Amino acid sequence: MIIMDHKTLRKKFLDFFEKRGHKVVPSSSLIPTDPSVLFTTAGMQQFKPYYTGDADAMKDFGSLNVASIQRCLRTSDIDEVGDESHLTFFEMLGNFSFGGYGKKEAIEYAYEFIKELGLKIDYVSVFGGGEGIPADEESEKIWQAVNPLLEIKKTGRDDNFWGPTGDEGPCGPTTEIFINGVEIWNIVFNQYFQEKDKTLRPIKLGIDTGMGFERLLATVRGVKNIFETDLFLPIIELLPGDLSEKNKRIIADHLKAATFLLAEGVKPSNKGSEYVLRRLIRKVVVFEHLNVNLFSKTESAISKVMEIYSGIYPELNNTEIISEFKGERDKFNKTSIQGIKEAEKITKEDLEDPIKLGNIVFHIHESFGLPPDATTEILRNRGFDNFIVEDFKNTIAARRAEHQEISRAGAEKKFGGHGLILDTDELKAGNEEELAKVTRLHTATHLLLAALREVFGQEIEQRGSDITPERLRFDFNFPRKLSFEELKRAEDIVDSAIAADMTVSFEEMDLEDAKKSGARFLPGEKYPEKVKVYFIGALSKELCGGPHVSKTSEIGTFIITKEEAVSAGIRRIRAIVK
Ligand code: ALA
Repeated sequence: MIIMDHKTLRKKFLDFFEKRGHKVVPSSSLIPTDPSVLFTTAGMQQFKPYYTGDADAMKDFGSLNVASIQRCLRTSDIDEVGDESHLTFFEMLGNFSFGGYGKKEAIEYAYEFIKELGLKIDYVSVFGGGEGIPADEESEKIWQAVNPLLEIKKTGRDDNFWGPTGDEGPCGPTTEIFINGVEIWNIVFNQYFQEKDKTLRPIKLGIDTGMGFERLLATVRGVKNIFETDLFLPIIELLPGDLSEKNKRIIADHLKAATFLLAEGVKPSNKGSEYVLRRLIRKVVVFEHLNVNLFSKTESAISKVMEIYSGIYPELNNTEIISEFKGERDKFNKTSIQGIKEAEKITKEDLEDPIKLGNIVFHIHESFGLPPDATTEILRNRGFDNFIVEDFKNTIAARRAEHQEISRAGAEKKFGGHGLILDTDELKAGNEEELAKVTRLHTATHLLLAALREVFGQEIEQRGSDITPERLRFDFNFPRKLSFEELKRAEDIVDSAIAADMTVSFEEMDLEDAKKSGARFLPGEKYPEKVKVYFIGALSKELCGGPHVSKTSEIGTFIITKEEAVSAGIRRIRAIVK
């Protein structure tokens, strides 16, 4: 028998669906436009607007049916990584339909593909109804027709209902396929839209399927677990033999996830996705301290990740990945040596008092930057395994909440209690200097949208914006890569607006009047009754809470640094001001 490698299995999946009228769409970014989620956690995420009719699949893909292999990151199970099945970074195979086909085809395709792989289904499950949502009898009948001998289990909302990702979105009943005791394929029937207040409203049926790639590969290859596949084994084999199996898995997973985040230009820092990246890297660096042989291996392990996925993710051809990793390691080592020493001083008596232990662990984190899970690892390494993790986690959470309250109060005082929000979804600033910088970048963001609309027409709309003191990041709808000339034109329009020293002003209006005036706003965003509309000369008009500069010359020089895809039909520009 030929052992199937991961590249062959990828191709088999995509070919199967391409032959059946699906357009193959590339994986979207790990950092989505939806501000209510930190990471892309499912294949359907980039397709959310196609289920609701807010985007047109025929126009964007030339087909109502698509297939993809999506890179995903989930942090919910980060503490479980190391066992047989949990990961932070993984890939998901999926076929999707936005009105092209229904439940019958979705189930038949899945059955046929599993058969083509030579696998045997243990049983399938369908939604048996619950919480006021009717049972999915149609799927049960379809399975009975596909194979009358199949066992069909019925379960409730907890097991056979999926979604939405983030605050709101498409969701619905599922049917799942189990092989060798594990769930292999989740087929979701997006029949509802869940609103922010959790109510469900029916929508036209859409298909969303997801098959964990690592699990499928392990099943197809007949190996014991995901770490024995060619997606992991070459990394694991590189690591020092005296590390435990569990620690090797944690290191392999965390290095892989960190490599993919660094590849996308995420920089380790203290908030959101950047903090997750920092945690992943710091955990590995702690292992380097605990095992001297690891230090010389982590860089080759990162190179191995790039080699495994070469030809699949062009983002990984990025020479900064290793230097960024080393930079964060150096930064951590400078302060953390002391933290590690402190962690090593924790006594058996400390361990028996969860509140005391929580306070110590919090102090080590605050003063030396050693994250709690790293301290836990050091304690485990010293043979202490029996402390009550939950109790001390609660103490840390309480200390952290107090600490945040103190810094929030301090910041409000500093900014004169204007109710200025320092960390809105869009703008992040920690002090006055940073505030001045994000304010300049914010006005530049309005100019950039106006410039893109001049270059490409009035269909261009904002789909996401994120501003840190270093840069702006702006997402908008556009079907293809921008040429150098197009980027240059947009940049020039912004720089001319800056040179013209235009006045930035705002007017307070009723929401309806503001929308009628043609000011840009974000569809789906909940605005108050009275809103501010910001004007930059006649060039830009947007509903916005500010803050902005008062004259465009304050912005300085505007420079576009990067343009890339975020997801199907969405592009992302990064820019800085000098
Ligand atoms: N979106 C579904 C999942 O992630 C298929 O399981």
